[in-house]
Amino acid sequence: MWRSPCGALRPDNAGIPFTETSQRMHITADSLSPEATYRLLSGVVVPRPIAWITTLNEEGVVNLAPFSCFTFVSNKPPMLGVNIGRKRGTRKDTGANIHAMREFVVNIGHSGQLHAIHESSVEHAPDVSEAELLGLATAPGTTVRTPRLLDAPVAMECRLDRVIEFGSTGAEFIVGEITVFHLRDGLYRDGKVQTTELDPVCRIGGPNYATLGEIVTLRAVPQTAKAEMP
Ligand SMILES: Cc1cc2nc3c(=O)[nH]c(=O)nc-3n(C[C@H](O)[C@H](O)[C@H](O)COP(=O)(O)O)c2cc1C
Repeated sequence: MWRSPCGALRPDNAGIPFTETSQRMHITADSLSPEATYRLLSGVVVPRPIAWITTLNEEGVVNLAPFSCFTFVSNKPPMLGVNIGRKRGTRKDTGANIHAMREFVVNIGHSGQLHAIHESSVEHAPDVSEAELLGLATAPGTTVRTPRLLDAPVAMECRLDRVIEFGSTGAEFIVGEITVFHLRDGLYRDGKVQTTELDPVCRIGGPNYATLGEIVTLRAVPQTAKAEMP
């Protein structure tokens, strides 16, 4: 039991020490286990886009898995970053393949592919291709050896740039430089991606996903043009 600053007794929250004022609960980060921290962060850092990553292992097996700790980190050259955790210290197949082959492909799936996206997260042995298992056709890479998913509206071929390890669980932030963008015909018009037609899915907490929902358009706020460093 913890006594909150306002004096009320609060039940222990699954062993996690917290205090609650009349308006806020305060959780000390140190008090959280890696699992509880993951659940908290993945509930508040939402919605997250999903990098549906194909990699190749040294035996030529095409691995496929979804990763939602995903963003872009540079415009010129274009670079993507994805955080890949470990399974009790051991690299996931995707991480291991990226280390070995120094390349990967980030596919962006659409809402009709949600079931396959979710199912591709099942932990199979390295010699099992989730793409094959789920009956997903692939197309050969054009600048990398790794194939992309044929029916994904977007696929970005990447060469490994760097890996930065964080924290005590050995999670790796993997950064790749995009060498080519593959976009379904008609999706990129007048220099813009037609987001509604892309129809992406995002991850919320746990096995919960969302689609685009309502799009609200506000006035464009002028920003200084992106330019290379002087
Ligand atoms: C939608 C979704 C997003 C996920 N995001 C991540 C992530 O960002 N980082 C991570 O390490 N695992 C993430 N996972 C779990 C991996 O997909 C899972 O560990 C998978 O088995 C890894 O496969 P691999 O061993 O073939 O690389 C996610 C799972 C789902 C369903």
